[in-house]
Amino acid sequence: MRVFKGEVTALPPDKSISHRAALIGALSEGITEITNFSGGFDNQSTLSVLKDAGITLLQEESDGTNSRRIRKVVIESRGLWSFQPPSAPLMCNNSGSTMRMFSGILAAQPFSSELIGDSSLMKRPMKRVADPLRQMGANVELSASGTAPIRIHGTQELKPIEYRLPVPSAQVKSLVAFAALHAEGESRIIEPVRSRDHTEVMLGLETFEQDGERIIVVPGRKGIAAKPFYIPADPSAACFIVALGLLARGSEIIIRDVCLNPTRAAFLDILLDAGAGISIENQRVIGGESLGDILVRNSAGIEPLLISDPQLIAFIIDEIPMLAVLSAFATGQFELHNAAELRTKESDRIDAVVVNLQRLGFDCVQYPDGFIVKGRIMTPSGAVVIDSFDDHRIAMSFAIAGKATGAALDITDIHVVGVSFPNFFEMIDGLEVR
Ligand code: S3P
Repeated sequence: MRVFKGEVTALPPDKSISHRAALIGALSEGITEITNFSGGFDNQSTLSVLKDAGITLLQEESDGTNSRRIRKVVIESRGLWSFQPPSAPLMCNNSGSTMRMFSGILAAQPFSSELIGDSSLMKRPMKRVADPLRQMGANVELSASGTAPIRIHGTQELKPIEYRLPVPSAQVKSLVAFAALHAEGESRIIEPVRSRDHTEVMLGLETFEQDGERIIVVPGRKGIAAKPFYIPADPSAACFIVALGLLARGSEIIIRDVCLNPTRAAFLDILLDAGAGISIENQRVIGGESLGDILVRNSAGIEPLLISDPQLIAFIIDEIPMLAVLSAFATGQFELHNAAELRTKESDRIDAVVVNLQRLGFDCVQYPDGFIVKGRIMTPSGAVVIDSFDDHRIAMSFAIAGKATGAALDITDIHVVGVSFPNFFEMIDGLEVR
């Protein structure tokens, strides 16, 4: 069994907050300085579509090639209508956040545009994007199966909207909010199940509870004054390092300056409830976001995880593959319900986790909204080929299990980790005690 020890100070900056900081910068009046922007491929896609749509990036100061972060991004804009008609389709690569959130902005611009992505993104559902934007008065075309390319014929005359989210999705919430900023009048977004709230926090939007639902109020045409953003480390990336520390007995890792926004850090509560040796230190608030250090000390292992609460699932949607693989390897068991959304991510993450756990000898059964792991029937003797399905979180979840246990795993298209965590392997190798 391997052991991992040390201090992590180089986690990638948060992917969700990085996207929003760039998009909000492009919507603001003045100069937006972003410190600690993620160097992951997805966030690069957001910067490149902004440039292709006429936004000026004054500075992109990088740490070098394949860097986990760009030290500083500086955006100059004149406000809500500063975009120019792109000369070609906007390439979002693997980034659903880029495609969906930027659609909300493009719907309000007085020109036509088209958004495309890689083969994974071109299969993901986009009707959830088109529906609210059409209700607001934009003309949005999708493929016959409701996927990209998204062709948007925008209008400066968007109508305000009262929109109840049909699925808990922070991307959809954000695209409606970005569109609504341009509408004449106040919009309301209703969340029956809450999702990550960075957009509301960063835009300073009013929110309140009503009949068990969350209401977000978006004023139209108010103008946004540019302000600086600092991006804390990504909790979804931290989850992999936490799992590494919990799986490899005798490990002790401290992860610094991680975003601990309660809509993102619920995986830590789940692990604490399961008896994991985790503590949070040095908690503080910067720019409305809570952050702190996570100390992982493997002592007693964890109890098997059973996850079924829809609200909890919305808060841990990106961490479920890692939690499932962790629980399977640590206890032989795992159970998930009410998580059909996982089938719409960069891959069908229910199928991807189950197929790969089966290859590793686990007894798993999947159903439409989840799966169950009932034990390990056999331990494979040779190297096992793990299919990443070109999905960064699938690749990293299994890579962690391999690194922690020493299991020989041959993971396909492993470079995909760069979508959100370019220095993933470098970091793990640096923590290993030899
Ligand atoms: C994200 C929201 C989630 C998450 C994605 C990032 C965001 O997607 O899975 O990785 O930054 O808003 P959904 O909005 O589709 O749930």
